[in-house]
Amino acid sequence: MCQCSPHRACCKIQPSMLACDLANMASEAKAVLAAGADELHLDVMDGHFVPNLSWGMPVIKSLRAKTKGYFDVHLMVSPVDAIIGDFAAAGADFITFHPEATGHIDRSLSLVRAAGCKSGLVFNPSTSLDCLKYVMDKVDIILLMSVNPGFGGQKFIPATLEKAKEARKLIDESGYDISLQIDGGVSAANIKEIAEAGVDMFVAGSAIFNQPDYKKVIDDMRSELAQVPVPGKK
Ligand code: DX5
Ligand code: ZN
Repeated sequence: MCQCSPHRACCKIQPSMLACDLANMASEAKAVLAAGADELHLDVMDGHFVPNLSWGMPVIKSLRAKTKGYFDVHLMVSPVDAIIGDFAAAGADFITFHPEATGHIDRSLSLVRAAGCKSGLVFNPSTSLDCLKYVMDKVDIILLMSVNPGFGGQKFIPATLEKAKEARKLIDESGYDISLQIDGGVSAANIKEIAEAGVDMFVAGSAIFNQPDYKKVIDDMRSELAQVPVPGKK
């Protein structure tokens, strides 16, 4: 077991490409992967479910052609069912969506897996985790928003830490292999506290891309994670 997480085999750091130099997305993706990022987080915003627009399938498809590594596609789009297959075909490895974005959560999760991707549900800061209870066998990732979705560069909402502990408990009790992901306001300054609450997958946009040395930021994050105690180890 890797030293960085008490919960899973390894913690994952995912730069959110929303904060990169978008005119040079492919080289930015290469740069963060070379700097030690595990996977890339791609935020799809529709200007309707969230008050902002980003990109859709064509951008992901063209980035896929130039980029190795896993694509974690976070859909802030409503409704979702009709576009799941298109994002899978464009190169998504993980597809997460918000429960509010579909009338049929169970069906949408099944569509993601049927399209060959790992599936996940995303919970806004004030959205309850209640619906999870009925679909734990269909989720690979639980994403907790630690800001209101739509924009990068916002401040981490501290109440998310309690929610992360709640989600961690649900995962551990379920016995399923589910990643607990956090998105919004994550930096080297708070990553340790977030990991201690049970998170093992960390999305960070502005904390990485607003610095000139991506490797330094990612290394700093990993050194913080290495300080999180592993149960049963001294
Ligand atoms: C917000 C997006 C996030 C965002 C995170 O709606 O889902 O992925 O890019 O950006 P930072 O890390 O700057 O808060
Ligand atoms: Zn996101």
